[in-house]
Amino acid sequence: MLTVRYPKIDFSSCFPRWAPHHEFAQYFNSVSLLPCGLEPFAINVFKKVKDRLDPVRDAQLIREVDWFIAQEAQHYRQHVRFNKCFKTGHYPRIAELERRFCDELNDFLENRSIEFCLGYVEGFEAFGIVWAQLWFEELDEYKQDALPGPLGLFSWHYAEEFEHREIAFKLYMALAARGSLWRRLYYTYFYRVWITRFVMAHLTKHTYRSRQHLLEVDRAAMTDAEREASIAREDAMLWHIGALLKKGIRALYSPFYSPTRKRTPRGLNEVLSHYAG
Ligand SMILES: [Fe+2]
Ligand SMILES: [Fe+2]
Repeated sequence: MLTVRYPKIDFSSCFPRWAPHHEFAQYFNSVSLLPCGLEPFAINVFKKVKDRLDPVRDAQLIREVDWFIAQEAQHYRQHVRFNKCFKTGHYPRIAELERRFCDELNDFLENRSIEFCLGYVEGFEAFGIVWAQLWFEELDEYKQDALPGPLGLFSWHYAEEFEHREIAFKLYMALAARGSLWRRLYYTYFYRVWITRFVMAHLTKHTYRSRQHLLEVDRAAMTDAEREASIAREDAMLWHIGALLKKGIRALYSPFYSPTRKRTPRGLNEVLSHYAG
């Protein structure tokens, strides 16, 4: 069933800290800036290419594209609400850093090929599934005693990312990886792998900049010992998350990669049911 959920999550008490592991909270705050650019970008790309699909032969895919658009529109709206918790004068560069990211995406939309834009969307959707697996199954130690609002936001978002995981891939395959055998091979494998790596580097660059700013502001008010402890906690978390991500990322580079065959992460269906009513 193609469901669009409208969660009512209370973010009013999330600032200044929403998790005892503050570096984890700031990490996900920087991640939360991404959907506000990425998801309008995906919606615009999909709207731009939708009429290239055959209304009869691709009727099911067209319905799924509309569903994808409806879900993504809710995602970024909820992140905009949540981001007000830290997109304040307390972190003076956050608005500018977010704008730079959006400007780059707008430039892609205006100046890059349709294949690039579809591949970019498929790249971040594929990366999103890797993150969904991690979010549900591997990060309990960081989520311990965190506020339910932000946890609910990310759980709902990653659950729906997993739910609509095939659509960007199908659309990319239908519109980019078609034509001659060489073209299909090139876009199915070589170009997809290249752009997936490009997307991950692009997103990592932007989250790094935002996270550094958030933590620099926080650390300016810390004692030397607190600052050192904060840097050590951040380094340990980055190393741990990096190691966890590796296996999922490796699977994206397989010539047989398909989002369809992914195992549903533990607890994901419960989250979808929770926000369905
Ligand atoms: Fe999303
Ligand atoms: Fe998505």
